[in-house]
Amino acid sequence: MPVITTIEDLRRIYKRRAPKMFYDYAESGSWTEQTFRENSSDFDQIRLRQRIAVDMTNRTTKSQMIGQDVAMPVALAPVGLTGMQCADGEIKAARAAAKFGVPFTLSTMSICSIEDVAENTDKPFWFQVYTLKDDDFMRRLIDRAKAANCSALVITVDLQILGQRHKDLKNGLSAPPKLTVGSIADMMTKVHWGLGMLGTKRRFFGNIVGHAKGVSDPSSLSSWTAEAFDHSLDWARIAELRKMWDGKVILKGILDVEDARMAANVGADAIIVSNHGGRQLDGALSSIRMLEQIIEAVGDKIEVHLDSGIRSGQDVLKALAMGAKGTYIGRAFVYGLGAMGEAGVTKALEVIHKELDVTMALCGKRDVKDLNRDVLLVPKGFSGDWS
Ligand code: GLV
Repeated sequence: MPVITTIEDLRRIYKRRAPKMFYDYAESGSWTEQTFRENSSDFDQIRLRQRIAVDMTNRTTKSQMIGQDVAMPVALAPVGLTGMQCADGEIKAARAAAKFGVPFTLSTMSICSIEDVAENTDKPFWFQVYTLKDDDFMRRLIDRAKAANCSALVITVDLQILGQRHKDLKNGLSAPPKLTVGSIADMMTKVHWGLGMLGTKRRFFGNIVGHAKGVSDPSSLSSWTAEAFDHSLDWARIAELRKMWDGKVILKGILDVEDARMAANVGADAIIVSNHGGRQLDGALSSIRMLEQIIEAVGDKIEVHLDSGIRSGQDVLKALAMGAKGTYIGRAFVYGLGAMGEAGVTKALEVIHKELDVTMALCGKRDVKDLNRDVLLVPKGFSGDWS
């Protein structure tokens, strides 16, 4: 096994080990993938201010997200089909997160069900829901999350309709994979993955199959989203959904100042500045570019988090220094999972933690909560002068 020092190392191993269909699912943006690329490349435009002769002993990355203690303000984002990247993937990722002391968010489009993850882990996790037409199913889903003791509800508000990812159509993405000459030939080269999958019963969308009615092909993400998602979603419905959950609610997928204001009014505890990892509106600005103006507008009313584009602890530091109270990694942990299972997710968290900790020290800070705009060099016009 090569020495792993970066998230990119994990991505390379993951690419060799996971079937192409699932690698492509994770490593895609919609249409031209401009937003997907810029989510990461825009982080590179921000530089850091080197400070010296500042005591760097007793550093800490401990913080809180929505009032919960975290070893570092980096949660695992909800990622659909995680249990197809590696057998029992959601359980493995949830365990790694719990041991590390960061939140794990289970996607509705997971392979392991809410109950599966709850039975096989010993710390509460967060649960993500889409906004669905079937109110009865939606309520049952939320009740299942309550019964599983989930400690926050993450409502995705930027995916009533799926942005097109060309590779998924070309690969015929489904869970379990449909057997074609191409998919069989590819899977035969992914021996470790295949043995894992043969050893588990969890190969379907566990929260949906047997629970949702009127779905013509429950193995297909695109047909399920087309049939089940509520295209008529509006703020009144978001307010209703908020009331269905007694605990903390996070709205995921805010990229606009006006929408952030609406989110603050609807009683959410936090928002995630996000463009869904560049998987929805291609051509939208990166999350990091939008962060500062959203914090200016609502940062005193609601906790502001960020996802999309984070591949290092330096990226985390930049988002925190701009004022985000928390960040999320999606692909970065999936790379680890697909490369090495639970140990790979732990490795991804370790890599990011070390980068965050040492970079913070080199910027002259000892406490992650003290990071502020002073440590950043942000090019003029970074947030854009768009009209
Ligand atoms: C689902 O949320 C996806 O982006 O595929």
